[in-house]
Amino acid sequence: MIFTVAIDGPAAAGKGTISRAVAARFGFAHLDTGALYRAVGVKGGDPIAVARSLNATDLAHPGLRSLEAGQAASRVAVIPEVRAALLDFQRSFARQPGGAVLDGRDIGTVICPEAEVKLFITARPEIRAHRRWLEVGGDAAQVLTEVKERDARDMSRADAPLKPATDAIRIDTSDLSSEQAIAAAIAEIDRRLNTTG
Ligand code: CDP
Ligand code: CDP
Repeated sequence: MIFTVAIDGPAAAGKGTISRAVAARFGFAHLDTGALYRAVGVKGGDPIAVARSLNATDLAHPGLRSLEAGQAASRVAVIPEVRAALLDFQRSFARQPGGAVLDGRDIGTVICPEAEVKLFITARPEIRAHRRWLEVGGDAAQVLTEVKERDARDMSRADAPLKPATDAIRIDTSDLSSEQAIAAAIAEIDRRLNTTG
């Protein structure tokens, strides 16, 4: 079965949490596409050359989840040649037999416009920044500033900006627990699986 779930949205909206749970529930493969951009961002050197030769060791870098890696990712993510270098891998992953869930910024709009289910996960910026602060610590005001800065950069870039696909289902997780957000996503996927047979 070819079945793709595309999960997009701003930083710390809950995309990864939902994607991992969906992958476990349906037996789909999961790709955190943000890790690709984070790996390119932290490696340094020429980002285009790095993106073209990205490998498993780069993706295993221990610092990928830091705030700095997130900022570095969003700076290299504006470069069209970097995005192009990562495209084929993501597309083949999305259409592999057995089903796949990919989370990022442009999965429903650019990587897999034919995805069977597209979810756009959001939450208020203050809530997202608080969630991220619980994970990384440090100065809470600084975390909020960085989250807002990164969202603005992601939404305003010319190539594959962060925006919901016209046929995406929006889930606002501001007032939901992780379990409730996961249940909402699973309900949408079940609905689609039941209508396609
Ligand atoms: O992948 P993304 O950056 O969108 O978010 P995440 O890493 O899945 O979630 C950020 C944090 O928010 C995690 O620590 C989650 O446990 C927490 N959280 C959530 O994901 N969803 C909720 N409804 C409530 C909290
Ligand atoms: O987990 P969080 O939402 O904070 O970030 P991420 O998904 O790991 O993505 C890090 C950065 O990579 C984003 O801010 C984007 O600039 C970039 N990115 C992208 O441009 N396209 C994607 N499909 C995924 C990430």
